[in-house]
Amino acid sequence: MPRFIFLIVMVGSFAGPFFASKSNGKELAEKVLYKASGCVACHRMTLDHIGPSMLAVSQKYANDPNGASMVLDSLKNGARGKWGNNAMPPQSHVSDQNLQLLTNWALTIKDSPNLKSWQKEELVTQESNTVLSTDQPLEAKYSLPENRIGTVVQTLDQPVVYRTYLPGASSRAIAVGLPGGISYAFDAKLCKLLYFWEGGFLDFEKSWTGHGGWYSKLMGTKIFTAPPHFPLRLGNSEDIRKVKFNGYRMIHGQPEFLYRIDQLDVRHQITFQPEEYIIVQKFFLSKTENKIFFIGGENRQNLSSEDGEWRGNALLIDPVRQEAFTIFTQVIR
Ligand code: HEC
Repeated sequence: MPRFIFLIVMVGSFAGPFFASKSNGKELAEKVLYKASGCVACHRMTLDHIGPSMLAVSQKYANDPNGASMVLDSLKNGARGKWGNNAMPPQSHVSDQNLQLLTNWALTIKDSPNLKSWQKEELVTQESNTVLSTDQPLEAKYSLPENRIGTVVQTLDQPVVYRTYLPGASSRAIAVGLPGGISYAFDAKLCKLLYFWEGGFLDFEKSWTGHGGWYSKLMGTKIFTAPPHFPLRLGNSEDIRKVKFNGYRMIHGQPEFLYRIDQLDVRHQITFQPEEYIIVQKFFLSKTENKIFFIGGENRQNLSSEDGEWRGNALLIDPVRQEAFTIFTQVIR
């Protein structure tokens, strides 16, 4: 799963078509694009799921001269009521060019030579999903990092990462479920930690069906909310600069968030120490002549670091630690 989500992040940053040429292999370039664009959250090739199967789409529109433009319109603007009560959100994270590729491809599915193998594959997966929804010991059977029952996803022994809509976040939230029932939300627009919660991970019902808004529901209780400001400062503690998110990658099974403050590259890792109840944030910065500050909230009592000196609620990072420093937050039970 994490590798798949990483692809989604990458697709967003591609300017042109995902793949220029068609491959003759079993996996067509468009099929890869379809997976990487997150369509598989709601669609299957041959079986109806939250949305119609791609097969059904091609059967409905392939011979309709307006078919392609209707489908493209649904992808750009979202759709509801053509197939049922579930809604498709606008697929605005996918470029227009790629939506056009996906549309053209979707209309050919009924004539695809791969149809039989997709059908077979999906029937098998459907069976194994049925097994997953029982109480059998999952870890023994599947080395999946998540346990999905209906629309509820729980974390097992590996972190899971989802891009989704979350309460209290901008439209670009990333939810990370850590083993042991602790999860956190990172805002990819503001480039900061938002909050931690404890209990289950997420219920995707609303975001997958569109009923009652697109938000995924936290399946637990918030244990920590970060102050609303972006915490890092360059130069002086008042100076607020532009921050730009560059995606994330998986390092030893944990996501590492990548962003830039002006010309400065930042890598940001977030983990949790369950015994002590401590949030650990590690920052890795490219070299700079600027002073670096980490700004705490109104009361900074719960923050600590060995890598700097406090000036009020601003931690001035020791110049020799600027390229790698750690901030601890004690969560109060
Ligand atoms: C959150 C769930 C969800 C996601 C993600 C999603 N879809 Fe849909 N899609 C739906 C639903 C639900 C419908 C049926 C809407 C309706 O009844 O009008 C639908 C309809 C469609 C249709 C038929 C449109 C029409 O005009 O009849 C196509 C084609 C389609 N989706 C392709 C895609 C592709 C390609 C992606 C990925 C870029 C995607 N969908 C992502 C839920 C989703």
